[in-house]
Formats: sequence, C-alpha cells, structure tokens
Amino acid sequence: MQTVVLAAGQGTRMRPLTASRPKPMLPVGDRPLVAHTVDTAVDAGASHLVVVVGYEADDVRSYFGETYRDVPVTFVVQAEQRGTADAVRVASEALADGPFVVLNGDALYDTPSLRRLYESGPAVGSYRVENPSSYGVLITDGSEEADAVRVTGVIEKPAEPPSNRINTGAYHFPAEAQSWLEVGESERGELELTDVLERTCSEFAVSAVTFERWLDVGRPWELLAATEWKLGDLDGRVEGEVHEDAILEGPVVVEEGATVRSGVVVEGPALVRAGATVGPNAYVRGATVVGEGGKVGHGVEVKNSILMEGATVGHLSYVGDSVLGRDVNFGAGTKVANLRHDGADVKLTVKGERVSTGRRKLGVVIGDGVKTGINASLNAGVVLSEGATVGPGEVVTRDK
Ligand code: G1P
Repeated sequence: MQTVVLAAGQGTRMRPLTASRPKPMLPVGDRPLVAHTVDTAVDAGASHLVVVVGYEADDVRSYFGETYRDVPVTFVVQAEQRGTADAVRVASEALADGPFVVLNGDALYDTPSLRRLYESGPAVGSYRVENPSSYGVLITDGSEEADAVRVTGVIEKPAEPPSNRINTGAYHFPAEAQSWLEVGESERGELELTDVLERTCSEFAVSAVTFERWLDVGRPWELLAATEWKLGDLDGRVEGEVHEDAILEGPVVVEEGATVRSGVVVEGPALVRAGATVGPNAYVRGATVVGEGGKVGHGVEVKNSILMEGATVGHLSYVGDSVLGRDVNFGAGTKVANLRHDGADVKLTVKGERVSTGRRKLGVVIGDGVKTGINASLNAGVVLSEGATVGPGEVVTRDK
C-alpha cells in the first residue's frame, strides 16, 4: 500500500529542541522519531513511501535515502506549511491511482493496529483519550464499545466532544480521495485533511480502527514518553566496553565505541550510544539515553532522561526526567529539580502558554549548546533556549 508520511512541520511546540532540526528527526531511542513511524508502516504493509518534507528537509532526506528497508522512498517538498490536506495534495503527485494510507510523521503507532488499518477498507485510526478536546474527535454511529465502528464525521478540537475517540492522524483513503484534496481553509486558517476525511465519510463506509497504543509526540515531555515506549521494547546488548565491576541491570544497550567505567550502576532500560562514556561512579536509571559522544561523569545521577549527541554532564550532578539537547554542557554540581513541593503536575511554557504536562515528575528542557556554570540549580519545568548560558551558582526558576 502506498503510504504518505507527513514530516514537513516545524514543530514549534517542541521548541527549543527543534530550533535547528525538524521534529520528525528528534531522537527517540536509537533512531529519529519519524523512523519509528516509517518502520511501523513498513511492518504493517507500506510498499511505497511518499515522505512530505519542508522544514530542514535535507535531514529527513539523507536519513531515509531512495530506498528504506527495501521500500522505495519518494520525497516531495511542501514549501509552505499550509496544513495536512495541502501536504497530501503535494504528495499526490507521486502517488499512483489507488487507495493510500496517510500517517502523521510525529506519532507513534502500534504495529498490529496499524496493520489492521492497512488491511481494512477506508478507515481512520482512533484512540480513546480522557480529554479529547485538543484533537480531532470522531463522530460514530455505532456503540462506543463495538469493535468495528462506522465513522460518520470528525470535529476538530471541540469544546464538547461527541465521543472520547480521537483521530490518530492515520488514515486509509480510497483512490477517489486523491481528487478531493483541494479543501477550503478551516477556522484555524489551515487546509485540513480531516475535511477530506469528512468527504470520504459521506461517500464511503469508513471504519474506526482502534489503536492499542498511540502517542502524539508534539511537546517536549512527549519525547520522554516516546523514549519510555521505545526503550521498553529494548533487548539488552553490550558491544562497547564495560568495566568488570560496573553493574548493568535490566535491558541495557552499550553500543560499539561506548564506555561504561568502574563503579557505575545502570538500571535499564537504558541506551548508551556510540562514543558515549558513563562513569566512573555514576548512576543511570529509568528510560535513559546517553547520546553519541555524550558523557555522564563521576558522581552524576541521570534518571529517565534524554541526553542528545554530545551532551555532557561531567561531575557531581543530578538530572531527572529531562531532555538535554545537542552539545549541552552542565557545569560541575548542576542540579535539576523534577518534582514540585505541592505535588501538582509540572507546568511548562509551550508557544507562550503555560500548560500542565500531566506529569508529576518532570525536570527541564534544554536547547542545543546551553552551558551551565558550577552549582547551577534548575527548577522543575524550566525551558532554556538554544545557546543560553546559566551563571555559576544561579538558581533558574524562569525560562531563558
Ligand atoms: C491533527 C488532526 C487531528 C488529530 C491530530 C492527532 O491535529 O487534525 O484531527 O487528532 O492531528 O495528532 P493537529 O496536530 O494538526 O492539531
């Protein structure tokens, strides 16, 4: 089945992590986010991938190349991000006549459910959530509990959702939909694929395929959730150097060229990437990734965090539930708070708005190249823009 993957967006809600790379290329475990989406698509039955690129397009292009896992890949460029219907309209130039699947390139889907979507007739992937108002919500004519539910329409971001079944951004369209891609602007000023879905619902029986697992990776803490998911599937293996008195518990991957020194305890799932070093005397736990060339030094504890390529935490630090961008350097003694005293969910500013993350434990989100001085303290929910600096002994309670 020919498959369109939407990977052109800028990922503004993911700032500052997307300051110089597109959201689909942010790392989730051992590969970029969009590679998980594409891998699932290939496992589910994709026979030709049409990847829509835009922002920082070359990153995506060079990752996949012209064939990926024996599946041909065509790239199409959406010059201006005008919405998902516009992206698929651009992609349709590379599609053959016939049905097609469309996937959001920034979502994780479980393979058995996606396979059911591929193998069904016209369908949309659905997922049940407690607060559907920030998604497209499906209108159905069947009982909420039934397995094969017919979708009659979709409402974007409704204040009063008609159901708790949301649109996952995975669609199986009939061939005819290729001629319905010219849609008018929605209220939010975009050309929406959900309008194409509406039209499909009026002319075809469209079913809701309920996903067992799905994750929209749009905001920084969702990158942690994505990593927790993908590291949860990890099988441990040691290809690098691990000192004989280091303790690796649970699934831990130490890639070739990585070093785990003496006195280290790693409680998996954890991934220590090529060229990274951990220790001596460090403690790594939770779903943690130490990126290529990264460093977790002496007396450092890292819990449930992502250290991207070249990020170094050299001495006597604590980093919990945090995302550190490329080439971040934490000065000795830098500490991260990851829990509020009042036990409430940690809030974060996303596109200028304070939002609850739903996470009781969340540390900081640090853009590429940030440097902190010795003994810096970073409060829970702080976001530091790419290239920011924190002085020695500084207590940071507001974003910089
Ligand atoms: C898009 C779709 C929406 C869907 C969501 C899933 O929304 O329009 O129906 O529920 O993806 O992530 P957007 O992310 O563009 O706001």
